[in-house]
Amino acid sequence: MSAEFKFIHHACFTVTAGGETLICDPFLDGNPIHVSMEDLKVDYIFVTHAHSDHLGCAYELAKKCDATIITTAEIAGQASEQGCKAHAMHVGGTYKFPFGKVRLTPAFHGSGIAGGHACGFIIDFHGAKFYFAGDTSLFGDMQLLQELDPFKYALLPIGGNFTMDPHDAAKAAAFLKAPVVIPIHYNTWPVIAQDPETFKTEVEKNVPGTEVILVDPGDTLEWD
Ligand code: NI
Ligand code: MN
Repeated sequence: MSAEFKFIHHACFTVTAGGETLICDPFLDGNPIHVSMEDLKVDYIFVTHAHSDHLGCAYELAKKCDATIITTAEIAGQASEQGCKAHAMHVGGTYKFPFGKVRLTPAFHGSGIAGGHACGFIIDFHGAKFYFAGDTSLFGDMQLLQELDPFKYALLPIGGNFTMDPHDAAKAAAFLKAPVVIPIHYNTWPVIAQDPETFKTEVEKNVPGTEVILVDPGDTLEWD
């Protein structure tokens, strides 16, 4: 089973497999490859938290595409009020969708919505298995994730200031033991400017079995 990963920018990317497409954290503002809502046809929209650089245009996109938003209960409730299809989950929960299993992981970060909690996801999308950390600090329980639901790809924020920086994210990579790590959520603004090469060097020196792949906006990768 193969899948196509496409990086849009910041923490926004799509994965296409099995004739369906998911998008994560659809913040399309200011993306240098000028992907607009009109260009996108998606079936599922995953939202880690309600900060504007993650919730983005999720509600409008869901309505345009008749897509299902998969997110925490608080955001799903707001999405339903806005007239969107939504599937509410919460941290530690797993659910088997027609495309595969989803686990909501903890993410230590603001939820951006009253009463909520930020999350990450482990997603099996038609056989492509990945961990999208969302916005988070480093936390020790990352060590458990690979054992709970194995994944090949891990998408980690490295921008610092709001999330892990490259050094903390390198520690996360050691905990996660994913064969492939893709750093995201950096260089969008000066406050999260980072050199991803330092991250790649540190991970590949210290974490045997993990390859770091750097992506620019618009890049696609073939996933298995
Ligand atoms: Ni955030
Ligand atoms: Mn963010």
